[in-house]
Amino acid sequence: MRAVDIIIKVRDQIELTTEEVQFFVTGIADGSIPDYQVAAWAMAVMLNGLSTRETTDLTLAMAYSGEVLDLSAHVPLAVDKHSTGGVGDKVTMVVEPIVAACGLPVAKMSGRGLGFSGGTLDKLESIPGYRTDLSRDEFIAQLKAIGIVLTGQTGTLAPADGKLYALRDVTGTVPSTALIAASVMSKKIAAGAQAIVLDVKVGNGAFMDNLDDARELSRLMVEIGKLSGRRVTALLSDMNQPLGVAVGNALEVKEAVNTLLGNGPADLVEHCLTVAAHMLILGHKVNSLEEGKKLAESMISSGKAFEMFHRLVKAQGGDVSYLDHIEKLPLAPVILDVAAEADGFITEFNARVVGETSVELGAGRAKKTDLIDHSVGFLIHKKVGDLVHRGDILFTVHSASQAAAAMARVKVLSGIHISSEKTSALPIFYGVVQ
Ligand code: URA
Repeated sequence: MRAVDIIIKVRDQIELTTEEVQFFVTGIADGSIPDYQVAAWAMAVMLNGLSTRETTDLTLAMAYSGEVLDLSAHVPLAVDKHSTGGVGDKVTMVVEPIVAACGLPVAKMSGRGLGFSGGTLDKLESIPGYRTDLSRDEFIAQLKAIGIVLTGQTGTLAPADGKLYALRDVTGTVPSTALIAASVMSKKIAAGAQAIVLDVKVGNGAFMDNLDDARELSRLMVEIGKLSGRRVTALLSDMNQPLGVAVGNALEVKEAVNTLLGNGPADLVEHCLTVAAHMLILGHKVNSLEEGKKLAESMISSGKAFEMFHRLVKAQGGDVSYLDHIEKLPLAPVILDVAAEADGFITEFNARVVGETSVELGAGRAKKTDLIDHSVGFLIHKKVGDLVHRGDILFTVHSASQAAAAMARVKVLSGIHISSEKTSALPIFYGVVQ
């Protein structure tokens, strides 16, 4: 078999056999297919799509490109969650400690920034020492010891996704239903959790910009989960404006800590309690959404959720003094407040523009080898539906230079619309697919 023939088949919309999918994924994982062929194939997939059968084959081949953990041998029931990617999405750092503090083991393999969306691993690496490359044995030992683990793809766990993910990030091949489904579900299958909550984002700051596509992606992932014996709930959530206040790696870690301490912004808190409640339902800890949200909330007010985050960071080598003194986390040298130039209601605060500009500030990568600036990003002070007056601060830029701050000011302002007509606030969730 030759990689080029497989690329040509996808280009010409000819369905691949299971063996061809497996051959290609093996070549990605062991490096025998070079990056330029993988990138060409990813672009063909992105433009032409894959059938449901091909996507399932791709997911399983990616999951089995490394080890697939069977956590049932180690804990009675492990749960996991995954977001399809958004702007200001620090939900994992809040929800996983909450759920683990409820006594439900949480085993998660996260990703890095992808396109304009941030990645949990990049965020956590704002904490000096935090390791995102745990081995299989470390993964299992930590889950058994403290009931929570949050790491990345490694040479042994979902290696094909690790390589493909990094290439997609810089080749314009992220927003593909097949590639997202395979990327998300291969990691979930490899990490071994038996129950999974998917947070499928929809809107201008998501890879699915309309509800129909987001529903299709959700159904596909739920179906793939079922085929692999996992129970999956997908939540459709809004991503037309940034979630919470902070966008950017260290800024989001600060907000996650504040949220775990009971001082989170209202939309983020509601979002996190809902995701946590669905995980608690799948994990048989509660019987209803209301009961789950109440239990989750009690983990915040009692301090147990923050304590669990502390334990997680310590277990993975992070310096926990950065959690106790969040002012120690990286802070950008230039901080610029940007004010409204007119009175009115916010009708748009475009999440994609914020995400793309955040990457331009250095919070994400333009090339695979780029280093990230953990300190840069935004604080978003207003939401769609808010009434603002001329001079009110709309957002704050954190940047490495005055020139970058000036660029960011202009770009983000171009995604904000203020109108004299009253607009309602955006919903947080649009529905559930099970
Ligand atoms: N999250 C992932 O892990 N992969 C994607 O492709 C998108 C979001």
